[in-house]
Amino acid sequence: MPYHFADRMAYAPESFLGTLFAVSGDPDIISFAGGLPSSELIDTKGITEATRVVLEEDGSEALQYSTTDGYLPLREYIAKRYRQRYGLSATADEIRIVNGSQQNLDLLAKIFLNPGDGVGLEAPGYLGSIEAFSLYQPTFCPVPLTETGPDPNFLEKTMREKTCRFFYGIPNFQNPSGTSYSDEARRHAGLLARETGTIFYEDDAFGELAFDGRARIPVKKYAREYGIISGSFSKIVAPGLRCGWIYAPSEIIAQFDIAKQSADLHSNFLSQKILHRYLTTTDLDQHVRRVASVYERNCRLMGDLIDDIFGGDLIRTHPEGGMFIWATLPKGIDARDLFEAGVKEQVAIMPGMPFYVEDGGHDAIRLNFSNACEDEISEGMIRLKTAFDRCR
Ligand SMILES: Cc1ncc(COP(=O)(O)O)c(C=O)c1O
Repeated sequence: MPYHFADRMAYAPESFLGTLFAVSGDPDIISFAGGLPSSELIDTKGITEATRVVLEEDGSEALQYSTTDGYLPLREYIAKRYRQRYGLSATADEIRIVNGSQQNLDLLAKIFLNPGDGVGLEAPGYLGSIEAFSLYQPTFCPVPLTETGPDPNFLEKTMREKTCRFFYGIPNFQNPSGTSYSDEARRHAGLLARETGTIFYEDDAFGELAFDGRARIPVKKYAREYGIISGSFSKIVAPGLRCGWIYAPSEIIAQFDIAKQSADLHSNFLSQKILHRYLTTTDLDQHVRRVASVYERNCRLMGDLIDDIFGGDLIRTHPEGGMFIWATLPKGIDARDLFEAGVKEQVAIMPGMPFYVEDGGHDAIRLNFSNACEDEISEGMIRLKTAFDRCR
């Protein structure tokens, strides 16, 4: 049909998701390709109880329209956590609740980007951010990521050129690489942001999932009014609640409210009320420790198996938290070929290419360790080795 779509739709990157869903739906396939948190670790009992109380005690309010900024007690809870855990001077006025932190990517792009504007980001970078930003037709300025943060010289050059409206980074346990910024990289990025007047958009979807439980210093601590933090309850409570937040200076929040209101009036209010009830009647720290300890065990197992089974053929990252390991393939093996050979052996991995805005990632794969049990990780790695040998 001759439908005439807006020009921006032509900027959407080619999606790999269709292929992925096709393999993820097959129960015989062990999948390390997705990015789901563990279903077993979702506290369904606690959330059921919180839901019951909310609906019984103030169901009609919880099911009514609400305000764009989000449920104040929930925003106060988040602001307090920033003050206590990170020593940031956050107030509820600087926090907005969103329908999952994915919404921040869309709304921040909407308020900051005109077509052609620069956006700095890590290479490799979060696929969902590339997809969200692309629709606003930016000029991407990728900065190579090292094991300790974005290449400092490259970052400095990118920020000093002053062509980027913001730099988007994931300092903690990055998706897809699993790497984290060193303390020096955080300081460098934050001070550069301030000095050059470039916003540092810090996506902290995984920050709470540190295996050692230690809170890492946010880049915002150095970037101050040039720092925005995006947070999410998806990995620490439940992604289906679709509840995340933005923490930003008030001038940015004012524009954000306009964009948010036109997008959806407000975030799911029932979810916000349930979440607040759950958070104030549960020991969140204890729950997060439990989740992180299971992920740590899975990560160590997967990492050890990569080292043992592949004997140095795969060079991998050593995450200190989060849900992903990134592995570089030896010369001559293409990630897409390995993906296809893997599906034949009933194991799915994510090839590296979709995580790059320019050509890249043909020699790398992302492996998710949060949504498989230990037996699946062990068996999956054996299958992956068979697939790998077929590609040689
Ligand atoms: C880095 C990163 N940011 C944002 C998101 C979006 O998460 P949500 O919308 O569930 O908060 C994800 C999801 O996996 C992610 O990996």
